[in-house]
Amino acid sequence: MEQHTASDVEPERPSAARVYDYYLGGSHNFAVDRAMAEQAIRILPELPGNMRANRAFLRRAVRYLIAQGVRQFLDLGSGIPTVGNVHEVALGEAPDCRVVYVDNDPVAVAHSQSILEDVRAATIVQADVTDPGAVLAEARRHLDFERPVGVLMVALLHFVPDSAAPASVIARYRDAVAPGSFLAISHGTADQQGDRGPAMEALYSRSANPLVSRDRATVESFFEGYELVDPGVVFVPLWRPEPGALPAATPPERTATYAGVGRLR
Ligand SMILES: C[S@@+](CC[C@H](N)C(=O)[O-])C[C@H]1O[C@@H](n2cnc3c(N)ncnc32)[C@H](O)[C@@H]1O
Repeated sequence: MEQHTASDVEPERPSAARVYDYYLGGSHNFAVDRAMAEQAIRILPELPGNMRANRAFLRRAVRYLIAQGVRQFLDLGSGIPTVGNVHEVALGEAPDCRVVYVDNDPVAVAHSQSILEDVRAATIVQADVTDPGAVLAEARRHLDFERPVGVLMVALLHFVPDSAAPASVIARYRDAVAPGSFLAISHGTADQQGDRGPAMEALYSRSANPLVSRDRATVESFFEGYELVDPGVVFVPLWRPEPGALPAATPPERTATYAGVGRLR
């Protein structure tokens, strides 16, 4: 584990960003994160594979958006950088892309700053996504809001409690972006999970980021004002799999994660 100078790092309490880093095989996590991740894996043994499926969705969504002409990305809850970051995928497809990453986790922000030091096309903002005014003010310094923006909320909203009014938060970003913009969401669900859903929520309730599972209808409702692109909100491996991709080894519902993309007319 590298050293972090930020004074607000909490090594005694698991954080979603660091636990997720552990699932993905990263080294930017503490003992408390690893212990919680191992408990979560006992509840849902497919978790590390599910997180890779989520990252694969993120990459497919970015490529899809680029094919639709999007060149600017606002990646909300961007996490600790790992293989296939948004700017790497985007710049690999179109060198004129710009990316603004946003996260409130100091470890995620410190690592993002270090990998973006020499990357002019991307920047990281430390902010709470539930404060759209502050996030948008900063994002406007780097992105042109007269042109389409790909707003990414990937594995983020299940950490935004109902008390923070996620639908209103999403609407604030929607109202700020130009027609032709897109919203990509992936979201944890307890649908078809039996008692694994409540067990996972109970575990995450002890972390810095309590988990709120939501059903498919609620995730669909987060696209209000957007037109869902095919195939709509589906379990994450089923969202536009790469042509020729092998079928997932585990049933799609075991990912316990929905994914969808919507276009703003
Ligand atoms: C599971 S990670 C997802 C990372 C990345 N989007 C992905 O899908 O690979 C969730 C991230 O959301 C961040 N997050 C959660 N709530 C947030 C909030 N209110 N404001 C900013 N970031 C938040 C966490 O710090 C964490 O890095």
